[in-house]
Amino acid sequence: MNIIMPNEHNRILVTSALPYANGPIHLGHMAGAYLPADFYVRYKRARGEDVLYICGSDEHGVPITIAAENTEKNPEEIVEKYHQANKRIFERFGISFDYFGRTSSEVHHETARNFFLKLYNDGVFKRKTEEQLYDEKADMFLPDRYVQGTCPKCGFEEAYGDQCENCGTSLSPTELKDPKSALTGNQPTTRKTEHLYLPLGNFQDKLEHWLNQKEDWKPNVMGQCKSWLNQGLEDRAVTRDLSWGVPVPVEGMEGKVLYVWFDAPIGYISATKEWAAEQGNPEKWKRYWQEEDTKLVHFIGKDNIVFHCIMFPSQLMAHGDYILPDNVPANEFLNLEGRKFSTSRGWAVWLDEYLEEFEADLMRYVLGTIFPETSDADFSWKDFQNKNNNELADVLGNFINRTLTFTSNYFDGKVPPLDDPTARDREILQKITDQKEEVEDRYERYRLREALSETMELARIGNRYFTEKEPWKTRNDDRADCGNTLHVCLQISAALSILFEPVMPEKMKQLRSYLKLGDKIQWSDVTPDLLDEGHPVEAGDILFEKIEDEVVQRQLDKLEERSRQAEPEQKHYEPLKNQVKFNTFSKLDMRVGKIEKASAIPKADKLLKLDVDIGFENRTLVAGIAQQYKPDEIIGRKVCVVANLAPKEMMGVESQGMILMAQDPDGNFHFLETDAEPGSQIS
Ligand code: 2FM
Ligand code: ZN
Repeated sequence: MNIIMPNEHNRILVTSALPYANGPIHLGHMAGAYLPADFYVRYKRARGEDVLYICGSDEHGVPITIAAENTEKNPEEIVEKYHQANKRIFERFGISFDYFGRTSSEVHHETARNFFLKLYNDGVFKRKTEEQLYDEKADMFLPDRYVQGTCPKCGFEEAYGDQCENCGTSLSPTELKDPKSALTGNQPTTRKTEHLYLPLGNFQDKLEHWLNQKEDWKPNVMGQCKSWLNQGLEDRAVTRDLSWGVPVPVEGMEGKVLYVWFDAPIGYISATKEWAAEQGNPEKWKRYWQEEDTKLVHFIGKDNIVFHCIMFPSQLMAHGDYILPDNVPANEFLNLEGRKFSTSRGWAVWLDEYLEEFEADLMRYVLGTIFPETSDADFSWKDFQNKNNNELADVLGNFINRTLTFTSNYFDGKVPPLDDPTARDREILQKITDQKEEVEDRYERYRLREALSETMELARIGNRYFTEKEPWKTRNDDRADCGNTLHVCLQISAALSILFEPVMPEKMKQLRSYLKLGDKIQWSDVTPDLLDEGHPVEAGDILFEKIEDEVVQRQLDKLEERSRQAEPEQKHYEPLKNQVKFNTFSKLDMRVGKIEKASAIPKADKLLKLDVDIGFENRTLVAGIAQQYKPDEIIGRKVCVVANLAPKEMMGVESQGMILMAQDPDGNFHFLETDAEPGSQIS
């Protein structure tokens, strides 16, 4: 076997976490596992490297069956709907997968089954019978997200049976405190059930050895791995008592399926197989999964780290025929306007809605500036507007526009010659090479945010240079210098049209059409003399328009409105009092009374003194309604009075009975009014 040195790779396989097909993709997902991968893949493609980008829908597991139960649909209907919807969103957002598969496909079931059987036949699994949570009412076991309860690590009260989304800890249902069934809300009982377990402890040494060689992994990822390894790895069940998933292909285990986290990462392999078949070369997938000179890179969110750095590698090691990931550049989480994204609370920006109003490239740029690479980040609509207006429109767009318009107006739309350039002109031309190298360095180290800012830096350099050189003046008094300025700015524009391609593919296509550069992007073309003297260019339309305040305000209003609808205010209902017999109730004598007079009671800001006609006599009553009603507005109302209540003195006034009021859950009082005449009995 050839010894391959680190970084000596002949091909790259990039994957993005397979999204569950249980709901639409929002901005938080996009910034975590998809857009960063797409930047990286587009960069690698532009360099002419052999890179394959694989993803697909994760269509198994409890997230799917719960979504089906909540909407009274079949799991098949749910996954079909969201697989198609998400695939389309990715396309419209410019995510350039080479193949987007799905784990319900026949190829996947077969691949997952065979993978599992190889491990089973090699005696890798342990068989154990253990107590598991059971919902007696729903008559089923409660694996993974079928249980919610309090996280034993951080105390978060809505942790799932497989993971706490607050602290990221991976859990098993029996570890939750105060568990409740997600199906019925009941407290589960326990029953014995038999499952197969992957003894992760058997892979501990190999995993440690493998991870110890990884010097370029992000500290957040390595930190989580080390913490798992330090705790000591335990057996992990790889089968579940569910009917939706890949059936366990073992006699005596009918009615059980593979654990979704066992089958989903195998989905990367099956999707690669489907891609290869589509290419007319069914064996080609093996190059990407089985040859040591392939670099495998998984882009994921931080909640998936343990599965991609401990569990899947253990599966791959146990199998033996596959390479291991070279890097897992996991991202932290993105928040929205200072709060966590939450589908159920309506706190999200859905990409299909975004795309109805804005172009994908604007959001690609803005997200790229805030990728949560080292810590959680925050998206706000105001920042979106500022970055669009101050960076895209005022710097990049302005630079391109003034360069192209000037060339078109004063140089006949042709690249002027570089004629005896000054040291400053040469220094700026050199920046093209310098910035290109900076950008490459950041991409190679998965520092995509910095790759983007180094790219933007070249536009800033160009824009400042244009201003400093004042070609609108030299046009008349030093035509050669003016031509040099435009030559330099045009070379920078051409370089930007390639360097910015991974970030804003559509906008850069538009720019290359103005620069008559054709569509073939080659990173190696980025040089200070990309454009020949006399090369034609056109002014074109403005690349980036400014976004007005009202436009972002509308987005904020939409967000607030959606969250208000999803989360109706919490109302407080008083608990029901103990039952009474009719006999007890009938002892009360309630009459219709008409309020004749009403006045405030000195020093009692809550009380009103009322003179009430109850037909056969008038009563003085005291009611605690002064903060809600003015005396004048209640005169003449016919209300319910408890007429045989023992008199009670309140603030120096004897109340001879009581007016019945309803107090709503918001705490407001309402009279119980009637048309009946005063003195009528209420029963
Ligand atoms: O967390 C999730 O959304 C999972 N569906 C990711 C799966 S990644 C992979 F391993 F398939
Ligand atoms: Zn927790």
